[in-house]
Amino acid sequence: MNKANVISVPPSMEGVDRLDLYKNSSWPVETRVENLLKQMTQEEKLGQLNQLYPGENEDEAAKYLPLMRRGGVSSYIWPYINPALRNQFQRVAVQESRLGIPIIFGQDIIHGAYTLFPITLGLACSFDPELLERAQTVAARESRAEGIDWVFAPMCDLARDPRWGRVAETCGEDPYLSALCNAAQVRGFQGTNPAAPDRVASCLKHYVGYSAVTGGRDYNDSEITEWTLRNMHLPAFHAGVKAGALSIMSSFNSVEGIPAVANHHTLTEVLRGEWKFNGFVVSDWDAVTEMIPWGYARDNADAARLAISAGNDMDMKSEAYASHLAQEVKSERLSQATVDEAVRRVLRVKFQAGLFDRPYVDESGFKSAQMKPADLALARECVAKSTVLLKNTGILPLSKELKKVALIGPLGDDHSEILGCWKGRCTWSDMTLATGLKEALPRDTVLTVVKGCSINTSASMMTLQDGSVVPDENAQPTDADLKIDAAVLAAQDADVVIMAVGEPKGWTGENGSRAFLTLTGHQQALFDAVAAVGKPVVTIVFSGRPLALPEVWDNSAAVFYAWQPGIGAGQGLADLLVGNVAPSARLSMSVPRDVAQVPIFYNYPNTGRPGSGQYRDMASTDAKFWFGYGLTYTMFDYSPVRIIPAAKGKPAEAVVTLTNTGKREGVEVVQLYIGQLACHEGVRPKQELRGFKHVKLQPGERTDVCFPLSVEVLGYIDRKGNARVDAGEYQVWVAPRSHYGTPVKFVN
Ligand code: NOJ
Repeated sequence: MNKANVISVPPSMEGVDRLDLYKNSSWPVETRVENLLKQMTQEEKLGQLNQLYPGENEDEAAKYLPLMRRGGVSSYIWPYINPALRNQFQRVAVQESRLGIPIIFGQDIIHGAYTLFPITLGLACSFDPELLERAQTVAARESRAEGIDWVFAPMCDLARDPRWGRVAETCGEDPYLSALCNAAQVRGFQGTNPAAPDRVASCLKHYVGYSAVTGGRDYNDSEITEWTLRNMHLPAFHAGVKAGALSIMSSFNSVEGIPAVANHHTLTEVLRGEWKFNGFVVSDWDAVTEMIPWGYARDNADAARLAISAGNDMDMKSEAYASHLAQEVKSERLSQATVDEAVRRVLRVKFQAGLFDRPYVDESGFKSAQMKPADLALARECVAKSTVLLKNTGILPLSKELKKVALIGPLGDDHSEILGCWKGRCTWSDMTLATGLKEALPRDTVLTVVKGCSINTSASMMTLQDGSVVPDENAQPTDADLKIDAAVLAAQDADVVIMAVGEPKGWTGENGSRAFLTLTGHQQALFDAVAAVGKPVVTIVFSGRPLALPEVWDNSAAVFYAWQPGIGAGQGLADLLVGNVAPSARLSMSVPRDVAQVPIFYNYPNTGRPGSGQYRDMASTDAKFWFGYGLTYTMFDYSPVRIIPAAKGKPAEAVVTLTNTGKREGVEVVQLYIGQLACHEGVRPKQELRGFKHVKLQPGERTDVCFPLSVEVLGYIDRKGNARVDAGEYQVWVAPRSHYGTPVKFVN
């Protein structure tokens, strides 16, 4: 088609019958979608709803070539992708199928592709949404250059139970922080134009309620009321939709007894009806056919029809849509309009992601898009801004006068565990904590590195009936690396000990639930023996979840919570230890005293008997460290909160005077919490985070920090999805963390 001709026709539906119109990028996306849809056979339509896993290698992937030629493959979810192979398959779809509809290649890029950043739970501790946007901008560039068009991120689930391994992938327990961080990630992935060669389509997941699984056991059911759904679990998804996310993944769990993949209320009434989302929904892996063991669907045909009718457009992996929906339409159990609408949504995203106009990737140039020096510097910055200082008796930052430092523990010189769950394309970090520290310590300080024990102990494992490997509770763990005596000797000889301990990355992320929030293998014994030496111990905990480590909290002189920090770990942590950078991170998820308390989160209701309902056999029901907690190398003083009344169209404001009372420059994350005292719509949490600001002050410097008490700050979502704010009394805290400080009353 001649371009000049196209431009002379107004961008409307007029040309919709011209056969190759959809191939021409001068036309509006909606016109191209309709033009293409009109030309598709039923098999081609169902092909667009079919996402396949091509297997472990090129040969396996080739088994779908005949189907691809018939237009039967919409998407590959493929960890083994490389640009040449991707182009090879794409050429078959584009050049050998009748309509040439490109494949969209999807992949789990969660906290980085090659440049691995800290896990998202850690990144959220920065309380800096822009940092997450910058990190995902790098991930988008590295992914797209390699041929990944679509990433299954960000994860908008709310983390309330640390036993659930997937808290690692979330932005923590607070819906407000999570909404900001997830919207920022969408912007990072997609930019202003997801079709650009350095951007990808994003996918909000897992919609919805996946994190509320009973007992923290992955893939379970979730009991969530509409009130909690609206105010806790949905806000981050809504923010992601508003930020322009092109797709959403429905989740494995059930909500209100209905599997999320077939939940008409959440997928259609809320998502399309209320939020006007016009991207597509993909199921999670086999979630369509898993409705059979759930006891919801009779067979694959029943499952496929239930899912698409509820609003789930694409079927990940199970092939139930491709196998059964044509018959469901023929027998009039399913309308053609429902199928067409799902296809329309998928095609729309393929156009928006630029796949029709630029279906191939540059096979020669992709390496230059990866791990640029600025990306590595950002990874380092992210570590320093995500690592939370939980305790410091004054040993940190480390003195430049130290002569001997011992680095003890299985994560001190580790190249791979520090990368975390979902490692993208990165399997090894050249820089370890040991190398980073060596680089940062004064040249005449001697660093002794002793592993002491393994992070895990293989002999203590047993295989369950389903093939999964779990610890054998009755076996005595054996550990070929066990050298507690050597660790003790190194500690005796050192001025300061740095302990690097935690949990294995394989026990976090998907299918990584844990019953106990402890150090694994012999690490507790190692810690106890080293701490007993009596030298100051600085402990760095590497973990995908909050662990309950009373001995570590009590017997360390200082504790950093580093999460799973990624490839910037060595330098980023060293920066904090020696004081090149002062810590500024705050917990995005509360750290319990003991697993017996979980689920535990700061935004609970006051109840009718506040302070009662204690466990008879536990000293406190408080978390050890609440959400928002984190120290730095200086001290800040907060004045009482003052309320400045509303005036001249400006809302009232809450103000504190903040003073740096310490000896160093520092950044304080000042946090605004509100609590509504009487809400007839439903009980609200005692405290809800509704604002935060990073404030940098020099020693002795002071400043006023103001937060507007606007409608958005005070409001909530009612059961019908309306944003509301009530007249009445509120409590307002401006504080360094949740559950801290004295509130003032405010009447709206
Ligand atoms: C299952 C996981 O739940 C989901 O997060 C992931 O995106 C898909 N598998 C694809 O790998």
